[in-house]
Formats: sequence, C-alpha cells, structure tokens
Amino acid sequence: MDTEQTFVMIKPDGIQRRLTGEIISRFEKKGLKISAMKMLVISREMAEQHYSEHKGKAFYESLIDFIISGPVIAFILEGPGAISIVRKLVGATDPANAEPGSIRGDHVIFTTYNIIHASDSANSSKSEISLFFKKEEIHNYYLEIEKYLFSS
Ligand code: PPS
Repeated sequence: MDTEQTFVMIKPDGIQRRLTGEIISRFEKKGLKISAMKMLVISREMAEQHYSEHKGKAFYESLIDFIISGPVIAFILEGPGAISIVRKLVGATDPANAEPGSIRGDHVIFTTYNIIHASDSANSSKSEISLFFKKEEIHNYYLEIEKYLFSS
C-alpha cells in the first residue's frame, strides 16, 4: 500500500463541541502521522473554492455560511492508504449511515453539522492540501516506527 497524504478539517461545530482532542486522538491511535496542522477562519472565497463542486446544490449556501462561522482546524494525515482509511474512520456523510465506532457514527446527528471533513480521493486531497497549506508548512519527518518499516 502506497503512503498517501490526505486533507482533514475539524469544522466549527467540532471545535465548539470541544471534540478536537478526541478526533485527533483517533487518527493518532490508528497510526497515521500528522504532517501539518493549523487553526484558521476560512474566508468566504476560500470556502467557495473548497466546496466548488457543490455549487448550486440546495445545501450549498448554508454549508458555506456554516464553514466560515468560526475557526476550523486543518491538518494533513499521512500513512499507507491514508485517504480511504481516514474516510472510514470519519464515517458516512448521512448520519443514518455512519457506522457506530466511526467519528460521525459516534458524534453526529445532523448532516449539516457533521464536525469533520476528509478528502474523498487522491485528486481532492492534492487540491485541498494546496488550497490550505504552503509547502513550508508541511513537515517531512520520520516516526521512530518507520525506521524499522522502511529499513533493509
Ligand atoms: S453529495 O450530495 O453526494 O454531493 O454529498 P457529499 O459529497 O457526501 O457531501 C457534500 C458536502 O456537503 C456537506 N453537507 C451536506 N451534504 C448533503 N446534504 C446536506 N444537507 C448537507 N449539508 C452539508 C457534506 O457534509 C459534505 O461536506 P464535507 O465537508 O465533505 O463533509
């Protein structure tokens, strides 16, 4: 399995509900590496770029208003198969389909206020990472365990 990077964002409701530590802890416990992280308030322009594929849908305007309503925490997670692993840990968009044990399955009841975003493909991961992070904000370092995984 190739090492991948994926973009993740704790939404304003995740921060309001003080679930930040709980969410990050789940990714760390799984074994994913954090290679960038920051708190920011997204501009309307940036939000529209991030959610451009949903422009015109019924929920689009309220989604934009919501995502710029307070600070978010944006980060990059890295690891083998990270994109699909993170999507599984996050759980389905529809709360009725989010499996118990997933982040949304355990903490979300409204689709709009679903506490977290994660890239759904290699293409979206690439464009979302470059929208949120400059190259110098992304850190390339080894975790102790990787020395054993990648030696020989
Ligand atoms: S869709 O309908 O298939 O395009 O939906 P999806 O790609 O799963 O998610 C679209 C993003 O919009 C957020 N959002 C909603 N989706 C569907 N219905 C409602 N009412 C809604 N409100 C907000 C949803 O969480 C997705 O955002 P991210 O940030 O990717 O989770």
